[in-house]
Amino acid sequence: MVLSKIPAHVAIIMDGNGRWAKKRGKPRIYGHQQGMESVRAVVETARKVGIKVLTLYAFSKENWARPLEEVKFLMGLLEHYLQKEVEELHQKDIQIRAIGEIERLPERIQVILHQAIKKTAANKGMILNLALSYSGRAEIARAARLIAEACKRGQLSPDQITEQTFARYLYTADIPDPDLLIRTSGEKRLSNFLLFQCAYTELYITPILWPDFREKEFMAALEDFSRRERRFGKTSEQIKGKA
Ligand code: IPE
Ligand code: IPE
Ligand code: MG
Repeated sequence: MVLSKIPAHVAIIMDGNGRWAKKRGKPRIYGHQQGMESVRAVVETARKVGIKVLTLYAFSKENWARPLEEVKFLMGLLEHYLQKEVEELHQKDIQIRAIGEIERLPERIQVILHQAIKKTAANKGMILNLALSYSGRAEIARAARLIAEACKRGQLSPDQITEQTFARYLYTADIPDPDLLIRTSGEKRLSNFLLFQCAYTELYITPILWPDFREKEFMAALEDFSRRERRFGKTSEQIKGKA
């Protein structure tokens, strides 16, 4: 498949693991386990087609409110993934990053995560950005706090606070906004994901549940994206004239 337009940054809300398991009469955690295979497939495909940044919503700040057993299992999966995959990601020239309240993660995961980030920091093939304990509103409030502190210290003045300045205080400071946001499992909401960054992002919602979302489904989403006309407020004629 030849894609006429490749998004530089793809963000994915990986949803539907619980329902996938339930349909099979299995516990929710079974769905999370199978979902890890989709993570591998999507990372591999993204690298292959030349996507520059892949952001995966792996655990939201709100997800802390799930039953403790499920939270523990998800943390275990994350730990396992990092321990098992970092070397291979490194070989593939993938740079690992994380956004969210990382300090809330279990200590041992923070250690492994920081090691992975450090080890892969110079890689140029693709950025794999993991959203962990992430909340878009919390990120925006944090940016406001950092900006207020900078103003108080006299390093920034209020009239310098533009959209661009604000964006520099987000976790995604040096990452372009997502071009494409994919959500699996058919839910039509953002669930507090990248609220500031997705102002003009193309949305792709598929009923496919995350454990079933593999290369074929990802390619279908990319193909759909490549056919879209992004107008950013302009008219279609203006966009075509420019092309
Ligand atoms: C997504 O699947 C994984 C996480 C949110 C961690 P869910 O666990 O939300 O699955 P559903 O939505 O209940 O089916
Ligand atoms: C969003 O999925 C968070 C992740 C995929 C990590 P949820 O399943 O938690 O979202 P809601 O609560 O149904 O909106
Ligand atoms: Mg869900």
